[in-house]
Order: sequence, then C-alpha cells, then structure tokens
Amino acid sequence: MRKIGIATTGGDAPGMNAAIRAVVRIAVSRHLEVVGFHRGYDGLMNDDPEPLTPRSVGGILQLGGTILHTARCPEFATPRGVRKAARNLSRNRIDGLVVIGGNGSFNGACDLSRETDALITGIPATIDNDVYGTEETIGFDTAVNTAVSEIDKIRDTAISHERTFIVEVMGRNKGFLALTAGITSGAEIIIVPEIRLKKENMFRTLEENSRKGKKSSIIVKAEGAGDADELAKEIEKRTGSEVRISVLGYAQRGGSPTARSRLLASLFGEKAVELLISGQRNKVVGLQNGRVSMIDLEKSCKTEKPLDMNLMLLANMLAT
Ligand code: F6P
Repeated sequence: MRKIGIATTGGDAPGMNAAIRAVVRIAVSRHLEVVGFHRGYDGLMNDDPEPLTPRSVGGILQLGGTILHTARCPEFATPRGVRKAARNLSRNRIDGLVVIGGNGSFNGACDLSRETDALITGIPATIDNDVYGTEETIGFDTAVNTAVSEIDKIRDTAISHERTFIVEVMGRNKGFLALTAGITSGAEIIIVPEIRLKKENMFRTLEENSRKGKKSSIIVKAEGAGDADELAKEIEKRTGSEVRISVLGYAQRGGSPTARSRLLASLFGEKAVELLISGQRNKVVGLQNGRVSMIDLEKSCKTEKPLDMNLMLLANMLAT
C-alpha cells in the first residue's frame, strides 16, 4: 500500500471534510501518498486526481460540504462507467480507495470492487443515517441539530397562532432523521416511510390533545412518507384546526459539523486508513455498540437498516 485515493460521493453531509482531513493526515503519518478525486464517481472516471497533503486539509474541519465536491453520477451506474473508473485507478497507480458517502455510494463501490485490484474502504457519511453496519453516520448529528433548531422556532409561531404544523425533514426512504428530530423537538406526531400512517389514530391524537388544552401541534414527517399538502388538507377538514407546512430542505445538508460529527469523521478516517494498510478488502467502517468497527461492503449494501421501533414507542409516550 503506497498510494490511496479519496472520493466524496452522493449527497453531501456535514463532516465529510473532517473525514477527508483525518484520512489525509493519518495516511501521510503512515508514509502513504494521498490523492483526491473531484466530484465523486465522475472524478474517478474522468479526472486527474489532486495530490493532498496535511496542509491541503488545514482549516476544513469546521466546514460543511466537501472540498472534493460530489455529484450524482448516472454514467457510473453502467458497467462501462465502472470499468472506466477502474482503469483510471490503475493509471494513477491507486492501491487503496476511500469512498465517503451513503448507501448509493457503497453500491457503486461494490460494483467497482469487482473491476479493480485496489482495496476499497467505505466511510459512512449521510444525513439519512441509513447505512447498515453503523449506529451513526457522519453528518446525522449535525442534521438532527439543524432540524431541531428550526422546529423549536416553528413551535413558537405554532403556539402563538394555535396552529398545527407539518414540518418536512429529509429522508427519501428512511425515517431516522425524522424520528430523532421528532423526539428531540417534542413533536406530537412523527411520520416515517417505514410505518404506514394510520390517519384515524393521528386525527384522534390531535383531537385528544385539543381537548387536553394543547391548541398547537408539531407533526414531523420524512419527505418520503406521503404528501404534506394532502395531509394538511385532511387534517384541516377533520379537526378544523389551521395547518401550515414548513419544508426544512437543504439547510439540513449544510452547516458547520457538530463536535459529534467531527469526532465520528476523525475516528472513521483513522480506521479506514488502518484497514487499507492491513490489507483489508472492501469494508465499511462503522460504529457498533459504541465502538469503531467494520462490516463487509457487500453486506452493508445488501442489508436494510431497521428503524428502532422502541424509539417510536418512546416518541408516542412522550407526546401525550
Ligand atoms: O441522501 C441524503 C439526501 O439528503 C436525502 O435525505 C434526500 O432525499 C436526497 O439526499 C436529496 O438528493 P439530491 O441532493 O440529489 O436532491
């Protein structure tokens, strides 16, 4: 192992820069050469990677986003694109590749691993926290804190106007962000893609709350769990309360990473370099039982991460 490459792929997440910084500084301390590919898999296929030194990654720990940029890359979803990337790795004499991203990134890394001799290690970084093999992904804590800060503000106006708010958070397929942000902002109702919404139960909860004197409610809904406009109309019709919608959107993807996201990024970056140096092939770094560990890349890609149903029960109990 003499030379490693780094790429950030898929949706960006706060803390990706902290992970890049950790990989570069640990690798250079172990006498490895490090290069960065730009714009995710597009760069792996097409660009001449930029040499990275400990100085290249100075002053980025606190920055959201990724200095290597990222992109969604349809061409990489084709065998031709994967082979092109493998050839570029070989042309640049890359012995090991660190892919920083989420599920989509790791599916691409799986395809690439079948076409290259380079060792591949994934670092889970996505605000969705939906990567199997790690209790927490880089960026998740930051996105939760961003969402909670916004929901707390929305609650002020909900109380003042005695309104119900549907707050839509990110999470196209999974409800980890909605569930954690919902619990930690005291949402009365949390709607996630993994659980079919029982509308009658929801209406009953809102009406009971009203009878108990709770004249405003916050509903936190993952973007992949139904249509907010349609739901708002149904709630207004059934309960007579005013309903407004607030979509938090891409603010959840940015911002300076929290200390927690920076810590995870630093620990995962160190582990990724150690795995490559020890010759481990096709692993994903992760947090398991609170300790930094690893899982096979293939297993992580093929396994759905289940939502913690105990957390859903807790949310319901706390919202009374
Ligand atoms: O995967 C992270 C994520 O932010 C999802 O929560 C969201 O649905 C998606 O990316 C948005 O993708 P894009 O940035 O391509 O619009």
